[in-house]
Formats: sequence, structure tokens, C-alpha cells
Amino acid sequence: MPRLFFALWPDDDTRKQLQSAKQYVPHNCGKMVPLENLHITLAFLGQVKEEVTECLETAVNQIRALPFDLQLDTIGWWRKSRILWLAPTVIPVELDLLATRVNDVSIECGITLDGQPFRPHITLARKTIIPLKENQISPVNWQVRNFVLVESVTHQTGAEYRVRRSWSLMS
Ligand code: 2AM
Repeated sequence: MPRLFFALWPDDDTRKQLQSAKQYVPHNCGKMVPLENLHITLAFLGQVKEEVTECLETAVNQIRALPFDLQLDTIGWWRKSRILWLAPTVIPVELDLLATRVNDVSIECGITLDGQPFRPHITLARKTIIPLKENQISPVNWQVRNFVLVESVTHQTGAEYRVRRSWSLMS
């Protein structure tokens, strides 16, 4: 069964900006996430049966959500998950609504979610044990125009993310 999640997937220009943002990550800060894997998770679904995937794709086709601009301007660290992240100070209302909609659709299709509050972030590094004070950085400006369903494939060398479907956000 595929392991799936809904995400915001950076376009090429945003990924270039993310490459520059990596300069703010201190050395020896854990395991850096490869540039091509950087994303914002909207909902983590876990292992999903094929018929549930079909339900999800049909239901997501009905979602109407607006495009928005996102400014990723803060880096920080969570002690419990040992994640070093990049996040927006201001969470656009359109992003909150989109996350709520994909979460609702997932629940309607029978998926049990972890119930954690939505805290949009890009994980830059994992297994970070050196505390990092929250810091403002020169922002990454991301014009978010779509969202995606991604399959996570685990290899010995790390995770590979395969984008399975993409949906446009339309005004
Ligand atoms: P993270 O970036 O904060 O670690 C794919 O694994 C994505 O789903 C990751 O971005 C991860 O968030 C997120 N995710 C959320 N809950 C997860 C879980 N229980 N197991 C693995 N990944 C999870």
C-alpha cells in the first residue's frame, strides 16, 4: 500500500530561493533534507488502500480553493521532533482553509489523521539536537498556485517523494 500525503510542492523558482535559504542553517545541525524533497505537508495520510486513494482523488476534485502568496521568513527548531524548519510568520487564511479541506476530505474517505494542529512548515533538517533560536531571514516568496498528492517511498539512502497528482488553485 502506498504511503501518501497532501502537500504544497515548490515550483522551480521557489526551490531556487530555498537553496539560498539553506545558508541560514548552521553546520552540524543534523541530517539536511535534499533540496528536491522540500515541501509543506497539508495532511499526512499514512498507508492508503487503492480504493481509498480513488475516493480521495474524486473528493479532492470537488475542492474549490484560492491561490495565495506565502512568505517563508522564519527558521526555528522543535525540540520534541528534533526538526529544523522554515515557516511563515503570517499564515494566509487561504492556506488554513485549504489544509482544513484536504483534512476533511481525508476523514470523509475513512483515514484517521493524527489530529495535531496544522503548523505549516518546511522541514530543512532532521535529527537536529543543537537548539536553534527562532530567527527572521530574508524571506522566500512563494506564489502558491497548486497542491499535490505525494507518495513517499523509503530507500536505505532516505525518502523519495513521487508527486502522483496535482490540483490547481483557482480564483
Ligand atoms: P515533517 O516534515 O514535519 O517531518 C512526509 O513524511 C511528510 O509528512 C513529512 O513532511 C512529515 O512532516 C509529514 N508527516 C506528518 N506526520 C507524519 C508521520 N506520522 N510520519 C511521517 N511523516 C509525517
